[in-house]
Amino acid sequence: MWAFIVPKGDRDGRFPQLKRDVMDSVTTRTFASDAQGLGDAAAVLAQGGLVAFPTETVYGLGVDARNSDAVARLYAAKGRPAFNPLIVHVPSFEAAARYVVFDKVAEDLAQAFWPGALTFVLPLRADAGISPLVTAGLDTLAVRVPDHPVARQLLEAFDGPIAAPSANPSGQVSPTKAAHVADQMDGRIDGIVDGGDCAVGLESTIVATQPVPTLLRAGGVPSEAIEAALGRPLAQAGDAAAPTSPGQLASHYAPQGSVRLNAVEIASDETLLGFGAVDGAALNLSPAGDLIEAAARLFDALHQLNAMGAQKIAVSPIPDHGIGAAINDRLRRAAAPR
Ligand code: TXA
Ligand code: MG
Repeated sequence: MWAFIVPKGDRDGRFPQLKRDVMDSVTTRTFASDAQGLGDAAAVLAQGGLVAFPTETVYGLGVDARNSDAVARLYAAKGRPAFNPLIVHVPSFEAAARYVVFDKVAEDLAQAFWPGALTFVLPLRADAGISPLVTAGLDTLAVRVPDHPVARQLLEAFDGPIAAPSANPSGQVSPTKAAHVADQMDGRIDGIVDGGDCAVGLESTIVATQPVPTLLRAGGVPSEAIEAALGRPLAQAGDAAAPTSPGQLASHYAPQGSVRLNAVEIASDETLLGFGAVDGAALNLSPAGDLIEAAARLFDALHQLNAMGAQKIAVSPIPDHGIGAAINDRLRRAAAPR
C-alpha cells in the first residue's frame, strides 16, 4: 500500500498525503507491559505496525527498521522531515555490531555506558538490511542499547532491530509517560505499551567517533562522563573537523506558549517554570535544585504547561553542568523562533 513512497517527501521533506491516510485509518491499542502485551506488541511490529514503548530516556515510536513501508508510515505519523534519520534500538553490543562497524573508541564507550542513554553514529554495514529511510540515505547509522526492562523485553520478543524516534509529532514536546503519547499520537499509531514514567526524562546523548569523537546531541549521559571515560574532550558539532547531525533543528520541543529563558523576575502575564528555591513558580522542576530530578520532570512540565494553556512561559536559570547541559539544550530549542 505504501510502496510508491520514495525517501524524498515534499518541498519540506514531509509526506503530506501519507500523513492524511495514516491519520484517517488507525485505531490505537494499549498494550500492558507483561509477556502477553509485549508479545502482542511485537506481533504488530512484525506486521509493519507502529508501536510506542518506554525507554529509560523517553517513549520511542517503534517500527521494524528493515521494513521501508513501515518506516515511511512512521515518518508520516510524526510529520517528520525525511532528511532526519532514526535511531535503531538493539538488545546488545553484538546485535549492534551486525549493523555498524565499531572502532576502538566506540567499543570502549559502549562497554562503559551500554545499556544506557548513549547513542553512537557509526558506519553502516553494506549488508545490514536496514531500510535506507532509517538513515535518510546516509552511510552512517545511529544505534543504541536501551536500559529499560520493557524496551529490552520488547526487543527480545520482536527479535529484530527497532527504529524509534521519540513518540511525539515532529517539533513538539517529547513524551515521558504513556499518557503523553496517547494525547499526541492517538489515531496515528497502532499501539502504545504502557510502562510507566521514564526515569531519565531526556533523550540519549549522541556521539560520533569519526573523524574525531564528537558530541552531536547533549542528553541523558553527561558529556563530562564521556570525556572522563575517553580521557580527552569531545569535539562539538559545528567544529571544523566534526561531523554534524541533520536532525538538530533550532526549533524543537516547542510547547504552545512562548518560552523565555534565564528568568530571574517574571512579568504579571508570565507563567514561571521554576528551578531551585524560587517564589511564584506555577511548576518547579526541582525545588531542591537537583538537576537529575529536573531532567526527569522537564517534558512532563512542558506538557502540563500546554494543558494549563500557558501563553508566556518564563524559566528559571538552570546550571549548565552534568545533565543540566541537556536540559538547557532542550530549553533553548523550545525557546527558539518557530
Ligand atoms: O533517547 C533517545 O535517543 C530516544 C529514544 C526513543 O531512544 N530517541 C530519540 O530519537 O531521541 P529522535 O528521532 O527524536 O532523535 C534522533 C536524533 C536526531 O536528531 C537525528 O538527526 C539523529 O538522532 N541521527 C540519527 N541518525 C543519525 C546519523 N546517521 N547521523 C547523525 N545524526 C543522526
Ligand atoms: Mg525527538
